[in-house]
Amino acid sequence: MKFSNAPFEKNVLLLLIGTLITISIGGIVEIVPLYTIESTIEKVEGVRPYSPLELAGRNIYIREGCYVCHSQQIRSFRDEVERYGHYSLAAESMYDHPFQWGSKRTGPDLARVGGKYSNEWHVAHLIDPRAVVPESIMPGYSFLAERPLGYEDIAAHLEALRITGVPYSDDMIANARADLEAQDDPDADTDGLLARYPKVVIGDFDDDRGPLSEMDALVAYLQMLGTLVDFTRYGTQDLQQ
Ligand code: HEC
Repeated sequence: MKFSNAPFEKNVLLLLIGTLITISIGGIVEIVPLYTIESTIEKVEGVRPYSPLELAGRNIYIREGCYVCHSQQIRSFRDEVERYGHYSLAAESMYDHPFQWGSKRTGPDLARVGGKYSNEWHVAHLIDPRAVVPESIMPGYSFLAERPLGYEDIAAHLEALRITGVPYSDDMIANARADLEAQDDPDADTDGLLARYPKVVIGDFDDDRGPLSEMDALVAYLQMLGTLVDFTRYGTQDLQQ
């Protein structure tokens, strides 16, 4: 029997139905396997949920719209890797709700800005970007240093994220406020904090010894970006050859 496509070419309704059937088959083949695998994200050692102070800083980052000018996703191109470091892994934003990949780079990518500068640099830069980068067009955020950090409801933020699948334990939620305060206090007992959030950076981020400000939280967040995965163990050579 010879198959002829003439009926499809002559009858527009038949062509439409034929097209729909073809696309549906293609769609099913692509989508159904996704339901059979547990996760599309490969787990990577070191990635952990945000500490309460980092999370509070992240909320300020979102509130202030930093993502409008900054991306947080390093693409796997040589120029990006040479400038920003190892390309971003899916696992690195697996606890981001919503993720901060962004779509515009008026300023540089921030996915690995953690540890690149000192806390003092970040504070000076956020207060007045032109004080440290004369040609900068970034707006100043000096008010963050004046505004006390509101964190009475921080445990609720952790709980809400747990509903979306972030593995915050009961212990983490119960200690959320204490952990938040301890992270900004170099003299605090931080054993519990460090056990719950490995690699957490502790310090008085805005260095004023005063009550916690929004600046403290934002700098704590910036200083952890991209620092969780130990890339010396994964290697970047694959891209540099
Ligand atoms: C209008 C666009 C714009 C907005 C909004 C903006 N930035 Fe920037 N940012 C820039 C530009 C441009 C630079 C590069 C010049 C400089 O370092 O100031 C920059 C640089 C930075 C750097 C230094 C990055 C590096 O690797 O040198 C950090 C950190 C930063 N911004 C954080 C923030 C945070 C946090 C916010 C939100 C509170 C923010 N930015 C909002 C434009 C912006």
